Amino acid sequence: MSAQIIDGKAFAARVREQVAEHVARLNRDHGLKPGLAVVLVGEDPASQVYVRSKGKQTVEVGMNSYEHKLDADTSEADLLALIDRLNNDPAVNGILVQLPLPKHLNEDLVINSIDPAKDVDGFHISNVGLLGTGQKSMVPCTPLGCLMMLRDHLGSLSGLDAVVIGRSNIVGKPMSQLLLGDSCTVTIAHSRTKDLPDVVRRADIVVAAVGRPQMVPGDWIKPGATVIDVGINRIDKPDGGTRLVGDVDYDSCAAVAGAITPVPGGVGPMTIACLLANTLTATCRANG
Ligand code: GUN
Repeated sequence: MSAQIIDGKAFAARVREQVAEHVARLNRDHGLKPGLAVVLVGEDPASQVYVRSKGKQTVEVGMNSYEHKLDADTSEADLLALIDRLNNDPAVNGILVQLPLPKHLNEDLVINSIDPAKDVDGFHISNVGLLGTGQKSMVPCTPLGCLMMLRDHLGSLSGLDAVVIGRSNIVGKPMSQLLLGDSCTVTIAHSRTKDLPDVVRRADIVVAAVGRPQMVPGDWIKPGATVIDVGINRIDKPDGGTRLVGDVDYDSCAAVAGAITPVPGGVGPMTIACLLANTLTATCRANG
């Protein structure tokens, strides 16, 4: 069997198109233009790339993009003061503080200072609680993108066995909540899980989000399963240079799975598309 490739790049382009159409309508009928503020502290190269890409795509769908680049040694008080200003700025509908933050800043404190209604990452403790109790919330972008691709490919997820490998607050935990919300039987696996290969072999849906290059081999995958690869890892090529790989070993998994997301071009593009969709949602909720 050879897996169907789930084309996240094409899917994300469709989501962005829908967002852009909705933004144009909001603008025409209500004079509204959604605004997304992105805060970057320090000069982490990967974060700089993400932030640039977010800003560009925000403008492309017709929203305002506000980028705040702060020095790596910015004090917590100054960062909190900026967030307070953004919370109170009616032109700003969504606020994203790029993670990770420099070590001297308390990430939980910073995230929880964002107005939950503008928390387009869905990381604020009140959004985490709302999602966990099945209430209307802002949903973290990467898991939301994964869920959209799963629903698109499989239709109903009800009753399926899902394994999420990784228990991060950004991906693993919210992913498991979303799958549970769609009536999957969910297992969260992690570094201490016993018999991980056997746990993964039972799954109709595998979401790999551990940040370890090519960790999941094809012989862990149940034939026909749907594999969603959240990992983006840079590895050395044997003949020099580097390339991006996911958390699953693509070739061996694609030989067994029913469908699989590639890296790059799978989950990655969906994350930013969902950020834009969340900003639109926040704008609509804020304006009744
Ligand atoms: N760093 C890596 N992924 C994310 C994300 O989804 N949101 C934010 N704010 N920072 C990140």
